[in-house]
Amino acid sequence: MFKAAILTASDRGARGEREDKSGRVIEDTIIRLGGNVVDYAVVPDDLDSIREKLMYFVYEVKVNLVLTTGGTGLSLRDNTPEATLAVIEKQVPGMAETMRAESLKKTPHAMLSRAVCGVRGSTLIINLPGSPKAVKECLEVIEPALFHALELLKGQVSDCARHSS
Ligand code: MTE
Repeated sequence: MFKAAILTASDRGARGEREDKSGRVIEDTIIRLGGNVVDYAVVPDDLDSIREKLMYFVYEVKVNLVLTTGGTGLSLRDNTPEATLAVIEKQVPGMAETMRAESLKKTPHAMLSRAVCGVRGSTLIINLPGSPKAVKECLEVIEPALFHALELLKGQVSDCARHSS
């Protein structure tokens, strides 16, 4: 069991003008994986709004995992990677690289996502692109390594060799 929070970065979503289908895809996935969605927020694409909500999830809600969706592209209002980089202490480049590499097999537009992944304290933060399709595709990619990442952050792994497969 792990505690997760979902953060959707979307100006239109925050104004109530767009249904958050991507947040729902993330929620369904966390539940299927046996996790507990303990918090959820939709914030505008401002760097400060995203950064503050990430810090709140890490230090107030104390979740094991934050999954963000949206704001990883190239438009002026895409600030999620910068906000995440302002929060994390260690990057986990392999997760972001693998999501991009596998996604490129589906669409060349995958190279336009600047998503980052990393750790603040003992919380893993993962950026996902904005569309429900992209969210589903990227979650499928990281799923095989997700539990081990969360175990490592909980300090539950003493011998990685016994967990590798
Ligand atoms: N990754 C996957 N797997 N599937 C997709 O359809 N869409 C891309 C990319 N990553 C996509 C994807 C597109 S079109 C963009 S513009 C970037 O993610 C950034 O999306 P965002 O700004 O909504 O975060």
